[in-house]
Amino acid sequence: MDSDCDGRTGQSKFVLFHPTGFPNKFPLFPPPMVAAITISFRSLPSPYSFGIWEVSPVCSVGYRRSDHRARFPSPAMAESTKAKVEVFDSEEVLAESLAKYTANLSSNFIGERGAFTIVVSGGSLIKSLRKLTESPHVDSIHWSKWHVFWVDERVVPKDHDDSNYKLAYEGFLSKVPIPPGNVYSINDALSAEGAAHDYLTCLKNLVKSGVLNISETRFPKFDLMLLGMGPDGHVASLFPGHGLMNEKEKWVTFIKDSPKPPPERITFTFPVINSSASIALVVAGAGKAHVVQAALGDTSQVSEKLPVQIVSPEGELTWFLDKGAASKL
Ligand code: 6PG
Repeated sequence: MDSDCDGRTGQSKFVLFHPTGFPNKFPLFPPPMVAAITISFRSLPSPYSFGIWEVSPVCSVGYRRSDHRARFPSPAMAESTKAKVEVFDSEEVLAESLAKYTANLSSNFIGERGAFTIVVSGGSLIKSLRKLTESPHVDSIHWSKWHVFWVDERVVPKDHDDSNYKLAYEGFLSKVPIPPGNVYSINDALSAEGAAHDYLTCLKNLVKSGVLNISETRFPKFDLMLLGMGPDGHVASLFPGHGLMNEKEKWVTFIKDSPKPPPERITFTFPVINSSASIALVVAGAGKAHVVQAALGDTSQVSEKLPVQIVSPEGELTWFLDKGAASKL
């Protein structure tokens, strides 16, 4: 069972230079050029229109690790100059690409440090991990080196339908040979506060034993975080307008009044999320298009940021969007 923590096939064919942030809002190519946008075409059928460009069904819009950070028009983009936005024709294609991306990182990190620390959220993300349980990935990944964590968990028994552990176990973990001791689920016998404290202790022990890296700012540094986003722009259990969004010190905290049921949860804080070596934000469905638009658009006039706009890792941020989620960009 679980541990006692219980306690690119894409080819860049063009590099286009664009003065601002988003391709569909501004005229192309006038100087000065402050951001590089890479459109990667993949071998898929008929093109569809993305923004004002005709591109193939899968494109990626990458923002160069930029020396021009200060000149981005939007604070959100300014903080995420390393963000790459990938748009896929369907959730199916998105899931394939997400599996490749995860498998590559797994291979790189295991090669570098002998372990791969991966964090998952609840929600629809788990279904989008299904391609990892299929050939070729299921046979090529060194599952014994994986260490799995949750960015947030509902404080319910692990066999409860609301449990993120149960969701991940049934949809993913039960199908791959990750050692049970490397799966760090919460202690469901404890209160929300107790479970958060217990998870913190678990993380600290893993830092001590070297399984988990630590960032320069002394927060745990996970190799990869896979995050979903709610229709209100929440990530993990960090909800718009909630005080937990401002937590600066704690690694793990708890909430008893989550606007999304169930109300009691534990969650990583933004300093931990943003210490990650890489983050994938996975969003599918036209129902979230308006939040994707708000999150990636110009927020210079916006007084309060959405939680998803605070996601800005030390390493890379990649948005995995299907066509529906990207439909308002
Ligand atoms: C949770 C989640 C939460 C989730 C988003 C997106 O436990 O509720 O971790 O942050 O990832 O709400 O969920 P959907 O993809 O199902 O909309």
